[in-house]
Amino acid sequence: MEKTKVLMVCLGNICRSPLAQGILESKVKELNIKVDSAGTAAYHIGNSPDPRSISVAKKYGIDISHQKARQFTKNDFKVFTHIFAMDRSNYENIIAKASSIEDHKKVNLILDDQNEVPDHYYGGAEGFENCFTLLNNTCNRIVKSLNDE
Ligand code: 4NP
Repeated sequence: MEKTKVLMVCLGNICRSPLAQGILESKVKELNIKVDSAGTAAYHIGNSPDPRSISVAKKYGIDISHQKARQFTKNDFKVFTHIFAMDRSNYENIIAKASSIEDHKKVNLILDDQNEVPDHYYGGAEGFENCFTLLNNTCNRIVKSLNDE
């Protein structure tokens, strides 16, 4: 079976998707699953995660400080088996780069029921705590569904 490779995608790849990557990695340590993250925008390429994301992850025992932002590319459809978008805008930007039904089928919103992980870049630290909780719960669900595949 093809190795499972999961890509978490947000806009800047400094706030939400680095957290999603770190949280999922922490839950699949014993499994043969690759996890990465990317942003649809180029603003922060090469940058470390936002200090507020690093801090909330650290609070829950997860180190994401080594991550570096990169931009989503068409090639990611070749590399990854599952692509999770944080919000509908990210979803649409990813889908715009899809070149086949297979590419399209790999992409889903990370939360259930069409919900979005809010963008708290222009907000305070409490938004990042909320983001962590949403992502932690949904990553538990993702691990279960990957195990069922
Ligand atoms: P992210 O948050 O998409 O969760 O990484 C953002 C980071 C940067 C910007 C917007 C959202 N920005 O406009 O620079």
